[in-house]
Amino acid sequence: MPRIRYHVAASLDGYIAGRHGEFDWITHDPTIDFAALFAQFDTFLVGRRTFELMLQPDAPPRPAGTRTFVFSRTLPDTVPVPTASLVREVSQATVAPIKEQARKDIWLFGGGELFRSFLDAGLVDTVEVAVIPVLLGGGLQLLPQPARQAKLRLTGHRVYPSGVLITGALDWLIPPAFGEEYVALAKKAGDRAELTVIEGAGHFEVIAPGTQAWPTVEKAVWSLAKPNSQ
Ligand SMILES: NC(=O)c1ccc[n+]([C@@H]2O[C@H](COP(=O)([O-])OP(=O)(O)OC[C@H]3O[C@@H](n4cnc5c(N)ncnc54)[C@H](OP(=O)(O)O)[C@@H]3O)[C@@H](O)[C@H]2O)c1
Repeated sequence: MPRIRYHVAASLDGYIAGRHGEFDWITHDPTIDFAALFAQFDTFLVGRRTFELMLQPDAPPRPAGTRTFVFSRTLPDTVPVPTASLVREVSQATVAPIKEQARKDIWLFGGGELFRSFLDAGLVDTVEVAVIPVLLGGGLQLLPQPARQAKLRLTGHRVYPSGVLITGALDWLIPPAFGEEYVALAKKAGDRAELTVIEGAGHFEVIAPGTQAWPTVEKAVWSLAKPNSQ
């Protein structure tokens, strides 16, 4: 079943955009494998305000073959983008058919207000944050107030040379140099596993669930272990 994943870039103090909607603080790190990230998804869920930004002439195109669902109670019925569909409310009933159609995971793209609606409806499977090493001091919150508390479990993270730290799903965070064998094991371990990738530590170790030891290889530390029980 496709997962709904809120994957978002945030400042260390928890903002997804500056006070005036700025996003020039988001570090460009060429070592982040965006192709691998985008390959995980075929569906985007966006709030009306984020969608309006996606319609700007300088906005990057959405990947071919993907679908976008725009959530809005106010937009007119005809959305001026052929690959987007309008959804009037966030509920099990409106989201179930989207999940049924998806063949890959679903990117809950944001912004914060739409995330809060999905969280309230119990429809978020993962929260994946690219923590940018900056303190903005104000702006749009990752989860706007008021919102309910939600406990999370860390399943994986990777620290990049620029200082960007990404938390989240295991498979795409694994450096390609580790090879398909490792990606396959991480996928098999799925939600039972925790992944840690630390760049530049001189070596990496892999411990599969069930304490199976993996070869030690150069360049990073990689651990794959059973999470603590909650
Ligand atoms: N850092 C990142 O990775 C990232 C990613 C995405 C977006 N952003 C930023 O986030 C900002 C926009 O976020 P935002 O929180 O202000 O707005 P948003 O979540 O993009 O859009 C909010 C709108 O979504 C609609 N909506 C929300 N909940 C709904 C529900 N339950 N049912 C139906 N419609 C619903 C409403 O549209 P109507 O008012 O039309 O009803 C609401 O006004 C932008 O500045 C963007 O750059 C950052």
